[in-house]
Amino acid sequence: MSHSKYGLFTQAIHAGTAPDRETGAVAVPIHMANTFAFPTSQSGVATFAGEAEGHVYTRWGNPTQETLERRVAALDGGEAALATASGMAAISTAIMSVVEQGDHIVATDAIYSGTFSLLNKELPHYGVTTTFVDASDPQNIADAVHDDTRIVYLESPGNPTLALNDIAVGAEIARGAGALTFVDNTFATPINQRPLDLGADVVLYSATKYFCGHGDAIGGAIVGSEAFIENARTGILRDVGGIISPFNAWLILRGMQTLPLRVERHNANALQVGRLLEEHEAIEWVAYPGLESHPQHELARRQMRGYGGMVCFEVKGGVEAGARLMNNIELCTLTVSLGDTKTLICHSASTTHRSVPAEARRAAGITDGLVRLSVGLEDPEDIVADLDEALTAI
Ligand SMILES: Cc1ncc(COP(=O)(O)O)c(C=O)c1O
Repeated sequence: MSHSKYGLFTQAIHAGTAPDRETGAVAVPIHMANTFAFPTSQSGVATFAGEAEGHVYTRWGNPTQETLERRVAALDGGEAALATASGMAAISTAIMSVVEQGDHIVATDAIYSGTFSLLNKELPHYGVTTTFVDASDPQNIADAVHDDTRIVYLESPGNPTLALNDIAVGAEIARGAGALTFVDNTFATPINQRPLDLGADVVLYSATKYFCGHGDAIGGAIVGSEAFIENARTGILRDVGGIISPFNAWLILRGMQTLPLRVERHNANALQVGRLLEEHEAIEWVAYPGLESHPQHELARRQMRGYGGMVCFEVKGGVEAGARLMNNIELCTLTVSLGDTKTLICHSASTTHRSVPAEARRAAGITDGLVRLSVGLEDPEDIVADLDEALTAI
């Protein structure tokens, strides 16, 4: 059943599910099976050949995974989705489904470090090259695309700088060059931003983050056209094998039921934290797309419905002062990852973006003192008080 007539809160709960046909169970069943029996040898042959409905082997597809896929596709307004073992499995599967030896990618330089490594270190071994540009200015994308460019790869807001890419303009440039537009929408989630509506072709997620929302499962997702997803599902995903465990798919589905609720609260809490940091005398600078001081605030207002839960900043006194802040906090948790119920804080240059060479980090605006904050769902006054006290004690 199509759920497009429903709003995002409704779809987050209902899309892709119905009470279990056999048992009537209202909650989504977890199908922890690696194989599925064929009623007859003939039906087995037909299912194996893709000529009959049915499941064969969980690396090829599994009912719990497929429920997650329908839910993600509905929230993003996409034709289809593919659930994967991690965000990096989603990103690598989607890219490898498109490129061949000799192909070229243009990517934003404000990008998750795993994606940077994949594009900068791994794919060149297979003859696929990437030009990284400051994609906050679309002219840089236009200048970098050429005849062999197959993908314009955006991430908006970008990790960790919260630089934005104009998705509609980027997609127009990509289309003109005969390339596909990929957008990593992990920070925004479909609640705050729907890249397909803005002209993108493929949307990528680390479902580990806001989709899961409770810090207890790793997963990823790709959203795109039926044809794109089918090709990725029956090609790279099957052959490379980055499939999600049905149990993790179930945990993420469980989390997604409250995604719109949680994201609204993340948005509100992050804005309060952003305002505190903006005014705090111990802070050198702060970046949050929802603050008027963000250099691309106008673009954020145009292409986002909310500004997300991620904030980054630098403490006066740089790396050492930032380290003192992180040692002073009590409520916030000092760790990597993001999108959790809990507020998480980390130093990007030495952790999440350690694998990015210092020169590339600097080019992308990742200063040595940058502190990344994933604002959680606690009472905003408590998060603000924790940060305020920790900053004042520096
Ligand atoms: C924006 C973004 N994309 C992709 C990933 C990779 O996701 P995963 O860790 O689930 O593989 C991350 C992880 O932090 C991320 O922040």
